[in-house]
Amino acid sequence: VIQSPGPDLEARVRFGATDMEVSRLGFGAWAAGGSGYAYGWGSHDDGSAIDAIRAAVAAGINWIETAPIYGLGHSERVVGRALSGMPEDERPYVFTKCGLMWDADRPNDPAQQIGRPDSIRREAEDSLRRLGVDRLDLLQMHWPPLDGTEFEEYWGTLLELKQEGKTRAVGLSNHSLRRLKAGEPLGHVDSFQPPLSLIKRRAFDELVPWCAEHRTAVIGYSPLQSGLLSGSFTSERVQALADNDWRRESPDFTEPNVSRNLALVDALGPIAAELGVTVRELAIAWVLSHEGVTGVIVGARTPAHVQGWMGALGISLDPVHLEAISSALDQTGAGEGPTR
Ligand SMILES: NC(=O)c1ccc[n+]([C@@H]2O[C@H](COP(=O)([O-])OP(=O)(O)OC[C@H]3O[C@@H](n4cnc5c(N)ncnc54)[C@H](OP(=O)(O)O)[C@@H]3O)[C@@H](O)[C@H]2O)c1
Repeated sequence: VIQSPGPDLEARVRFGATDMEVSRLGFGAWAAGGSGYAYGWGSHDDGSAIDAIRAAVAAGINWIETAPIYGLGHSERVVGRALSGMPEDERPYVFTKCGLMWDADRPNDPAQQIGRPDSIRREAEDSLRRLGVDRLDLLQMHWPPLDGTEFEEYWGTLLELKQEGKTRAVGLSNHSLRRLKAGEPLGHVDSFQPPLSLIKRRAFDELVPWCAEHRTAVIGYSPLQSGLLSGSFTSERVQALADNDWRRESPDFTEPNVSRNLALVDALGPIAAELGVTVRELAIAWVLSHEGVTGVIVGARTPAHVQGWMGALGISLDPVHLEAISSALDQTGAGEGPTR
């Protein structure tokens, strides 16, 4: 049972320079895509995914983040089902992406990174249909394309889609500072989505400050490092990950990194205990404590998962705690990017 929203859960912040006001936690629907393709999460039940999304909305989260590639359209359909029947004024914003394509006959092949305007336009129409909405709230380029399309061409296409009213805002994910700087004069980069966690800290160096200066919303992904910082991982669980779970092959879940990452979880334990919170909540609160971070996208498979991290919103970290976390990062050597 999710507790009714308290003041922190109802707090909203402006989404960059747009007219949207968002909760600082967003729901990530990658795992809702299930398995049967190159980036699956092992078996996942649609009913549980829908319950998790509805629990998140009931708890005060007002945006859901997905992508066509998640389950090859399946995650967007699940999000569409979760939203259907919700009264209009209670519906969360829906953020999706484009630029990663697949061949339906070869679902386990790596995604094709495509930026051609006709392809992006077709993707946006498919997303609208799967999500069951007339307009997207945010359309982001998932990764830079590898099909030879120039940056100006695909960014220009996203800007046109915004002008045409197909999406309220447009953003970039997994792009370099050079690309952000190139995009801004052509049309405002409404948002940027980098990986942001205690393990992936590189974006705090230059990207997040650039966004803060330009009123570009920053939504960090995988704050729990896809479960590693959730408190439910041990080296035994890592070894036992299903063959159809993408994490099995991820460098974060394999040596030499996984031992350092799990050592970090151990080192954070006493800091979390002193604050009376879980390591998972501490990990999310740490990302949120950085200036320039608008929100974080957290994944959950069940309503209980959601309940297990909403408490991150109530944590304020003082300089003593931040220093203790920096020391834990230095001592374990986990991850990459600035520790302070
Ligand atoms: N732009 C991009 O390229 C990109 C890349 C990655 C992610 N994203 C976005 O970011 C979202 C979130 O990232 P993410 O899904 O990788 O990971 P995350 O938020 O770092 O971790 C989510 C996972 O942590 C575990 N977890 C969550 N709450 C828990 C709880 N209360 N107790 C125990 N375990 C818990 C679950 O894993 P298990 O159930 O497996 O234990 C869950 O699937 C994605 O859904 C997607 O929208 C974007």
